[in-house]
Amino acid sequence: MNKVPQTVAIIMDGNGRWAKAKGLPRTAGHKQGAEQIRVIALAANRMGIKKLILYAFSTENWKRPEDEIGYLCKLPGIFFSRYIKELMENNIRVTFAGELERFPESTQKVIRKAVDQTKENTGLNLDIAINYGSRRELLLGMQAYAQEVAEGKRENNLTEAEVAQYLMVPEDIDLLIRTSGEERISNFLLWQIAYAELIFTPVAWPDFDETALQDCIDQFNHRDRRYGGLTS
Ligand code: IPE
Ligand code: IPE
Ligand code: MG
Repeated sequence: MNKVPQTVAIIMDGNGRWAKAKGLPRTAGHKQGAEQIRVIALAANRMGIKKLILYAFSTENWKRPEDEIGYLCKLPGIFFSRYIKELMENNIRVTFAGELERFPESTQKVIRKAVDQTKENTGLNLDIAINYGSRRELLLGMQAYAQEVAEGKRENNLTEAEVAQYLMVPEDIDLLIRTSGEERISNFLLWQIAYAELIFTPVAWPDFDETALQDCIDQFNHRDRRYGGLTS
């Protein structure tokens, strides 16, 4: 039995603690964290995962100090200038979930360019969630739906299956991983994880490598997903 989950979501947590343990500034943890995005995206692509959704910046992370936010805004530029070629060679498509307008124009430009350059790729979809919060996502979806109804564009007859089309991430999640030991969801993909398998690993994100990912996939393979029914 060796199923590969189609959609994997990761709450990339622990960059700050990883850096602190080494006597380094928190930004050093974010720098190494960005390197692991490359490592894990390439590994997920090889394994045949269809979509990898990485939580990089939440709607609540604006509470952090300005210099930390400033560094995080620069990371997409550093990351894509270094790795866009490799992402192309590996047929990886990059997308983003979240309200990008709140980021500096320079950051938005780098992001739009990466999305545009990789849009024809058919391998892994690497979806990076920034300024993403699931409550905000649900609220925006509800507002869009209400407006369509008010304008007479559709009947007020929404089905569960149709909810996805109003969300920033439409897919159901098979496997959700959170690194660095915290066991909470922190406003990530609340609708989409209804039947996800959850794995909380003590490994900090900057240390989360291909072996750690494979270990999570192995655990996933030993789970019995019953969806409310009985074991088959
Ligand atoms: C995750 O690491 C990255 C972001 C939330 C941007 P943290 O920065 O939350 O690291 P810890 O949790 O403080 O160790
Ligand atoms: C969740 O991590 C958000 C990201 C990984 C981007 P946080 O570190 O912000 O979550 P809390 O504050 O510990 O819940
Ligand atoms: Mg954290």
